Amino acid sequence: MTVQTPAVGGPSLPQERRLVTEIPGPASKELLERRQRSVARGLSHVLPVFVTAAGGGVIVDADGNSLIDFGSGIAVTGVGNSAERVVQRVTEQVARFTHTCFMVAPYEGYVEVCEELNRLTPGDHDKRSALFNSGAEAVENAVKIARYATGRPAIVTFDHAYHGRTNLTMALTAKNMPYKHRFGPFAGEVYRVPMAYPLRWPGGPERCREDALTTVKSLIHTQVGEENTAAIIIEPIQGEGGFIVPPDGFLPGLAEFCREHGIVLIADEIQSGLCRTGDWFGVDHEQVVPDLVTTAKGIADGLPLAGVTGRAELMDAVHPGGLGGTYGGNPIACAAALGSLETMAKEDLAGKARRIGDIMLPRLRQIAERSPAIGDVRGRGAMLAVELVRPGGIEPDPAATAAVARACHQAGLLVLTCGTFGNVLRFLPPMVIGEPLLSEGLGILDDAFAGLPG
Ligand SMILES: Cc1ncc(COP(=O)(O)O)c(C=O)c1O
Repeated sequence: MTVQTPAVGGPSLPQERRLVTEIPGPASKELLERRQRSVARGLSHVLPVFVTAAGGGVIVDADGNSLIDFGSGIAVTGVGNSAERVVQRVTEQVARFTHTCFMVAPYEGYVEVCEELNRLTPGDHDKRSALFNSGAEAVENAVKIARYATGRPAIVTFDHAYHGRTNLTMALTAKNMPYKHRFGPFAGEVYRVPMAYPLRWPGGPERCREDALTTVKSLIHTQVGEENTAAIIIEPIQGEGGFIVPPDGFLPGLAEFCREHGIVLIADEIQSGLCRTGDWFGVDHEQVVPDLVTTAKGIADGLPLAGVTGRAELMDAVHPGGLGGTYGGNPIACAAALGSLETMAKEDLAGKARRIGDIMLPRLRQIAERSPAIGDVRGRGAMLAVELVRPGGIEPDPAATAAVARACHQAGLLVLTCGTFGNVLRFLPPMVIGEPLLSEGLGILDDAFAGLPG
């Protein structure tokens, strides 16, 4: 059978769910066999359909199925795959030059991306940025900068944190399986403190903010020493750890503690940043101004780019030549970032993310009312989740989570799971998704919960 798949993707793809085979279909299964013979086992797939085109709110596979996308390639393609301005700028750039290395001979695109990041990140103080290839690399560099600028060694991270898979970022990441298991020893001078996780806070959600702040400060004081602490790194809404939203006041409380003790506050906005939560950055909801901000994922519509942006005096503390890398801030990735950032501003994607939240949250709460498997509905804008528990308590239910995800996939809705206990379904639709698709996706989710054994 010859399958007709579109020659181009992007926003012109029909915005429809269309299933023409089982999921995965025969063409994907054939490719999966080749993949198993050629690609390392350590890389896994949420849904083994092989993609041939994507755009707006859909992904088209090698069998001609068109799936609704509630994942955005893990919070990356917020502007939609192959967004118009991205394609245009990347095409122009790739025809002009592909690489000189910014450390060898610079180019304007890199500077423009840094100017944009300096303008968009919270705070009107003097800022500088540096660009890298991946989120993990941005986090590593934020740590390097914080240590250099403060002359202190210790980095404080949180339970349920995820900051990447390199050696230092594995040390910062909390979860053992699959991220850390048998990959140690890990980098030193990393200290972990409890996260303000309302659903699971021992004293209950009402005590969470105050108790968590007291515990964090006390642990840093007694076990690390404020004067030894270079930085506290936190995701404003934790991503892989389970879309954990700290209670109001927790992030401002941390920021105040950091200010008092000359500790650098690093906001890891790699998943929550760039319009995803309905504002430019996750910390904007509480007007927190971090000292350093890491960005990646949503910045360049899938081209590898990441940034560290922060106070000029911290960023410029490092000696010339101390930061860099061959590909960091590659000109094509910078062109993609400029196309993405322009799209976010001109099409008000923060507003679109808020609208997605306004549509999805009430529907998710309705589903939760009918399904005892849902213990919590949370998130902001287009970064939303439901946490699955055993009925009547808060014991995590990863099996039910996997069953709901599987049912969604079979019905043509791509959803992702996450969470320390593997019991969270997270929803990260592209901010440009149309409302009919969004609504259809929610209907599929509703049916998937209804299909759980009672
Ligand atoms: C908050 C956060 N930090 C860091 C990373 C690592 O980014 P990358 O996979 O680009 O290295 C991720 C990736 O999921 C993330 O969500």
